Amino acid sequence: MTAANLIPSLEPKLRDLLDTHRERAAAVDWAYHEYLPLAELRANPDALPKLSPTTYLAVETALFTEVNLPWFTSGLTQIFKGALAPMREFIHDWTSEEDQHAMLLETYLLLGDNGDHRERARLRKQIVRVGWEPNVEDHFQAIAYTAMQELATQVFYLRVAHFCQDEDPLLARALRRIARDEVLHMAFYRDAVKVHLIAEPNYIEPLVKIMLEFAMPGYLMPDYATRSAILSRQGVYGPDHYFNLVVEKLWKEWDVPGLMPSAETAREAQRKVLAQHEKLGRVAARFAVRNAPSAKDREAAVVARAQQELMLKFGE
Ligand SMILES: [Fe+2]
Ligand SMILES: [Fe+2]
Repeated sequence: MTAANLIPSLEPKLRDLLDTHRERAAAVDWAYHEYLPLAELRANPDALPKLSPTTYLAVETALFTEVNLPWFTSGLTQIFKGALAPMREFIHDWTSEEDQHAMLLETYLLLGDNGDHRERARLRKQIVRVGWEPNVEDHFQAIAYTAMQELATQVFYLRVAHFCQDEDPLLARALRRIARDEVLHMAFYRDAVKVHLIAEPNYIEPLVKIMLEFAMPGYLMPDYATRSAILSRQGVYGPDHYFNLVVEKLWKEWDVPGLMPSAETAREAQRKVLAQHEKLGRVAARFAVRNAPSAKDREAAVVARAQQELMLKFGE
């Protein structure tokens, strides 16, 4: 099919989505220093726990994705050149909101003296030098990709927050705060995709391309595959979370199986994605079973938590 651009008659709908986004963002406006443990550190310079290797790896991986913001902005600005005004305006709002994510994460790691700061700075520089180029061909593919990416990022933050809740509750709180930004961004893109699919079901064809080829925006960072494998093995974020909390959510929102495209190539794409969806579901289910903690592990975790509570109670 020819380039799937944004549909001009949908401009008022995009304007409504942008207005809604601005209202929601204003209602939860925040500054990153509010999510740093400044008061706790003033009271006790040793207030912050040393992070476990898995939590550190997860936070560093998130940070290494966020630091490429200059390239995400320039990539999306290029793509949306000449696109409908609300879309171009959204990129400005989005950039200003994303801007404090990397700052919060980096500062948190510095204040807790976690990781090797010199090495992290070296890798950051390397990552920003490599940059990012979107693998999309038109406006519609761009909004479909960003919807998936923002949701995957939100789920990642929430999973890490869940994982480190006991270890460092203040870090978990900061991660949940970033996740709230990501979900607002996701909602804008998700609904922009939805109105286009309703207006033009043949847009399922470019959507399928994005769904089949999706990769996280940080996939070019050094050791990305190893990082993902570790985080997946540790139960932080793996194929089961991706399928159940990202793909399935959007699949239902966009009613992928229920769309009725008229073009044969679009129907063919729909059949392809239905088959792939089933396969992905099976992989996710197998992975979840294999990775589920055994009864013995669960028991050990309960004992450890009870011991910790007792120690806290007696002030040890
Ligand atoms: Fe972000
Ligand atoms: Fe984001």
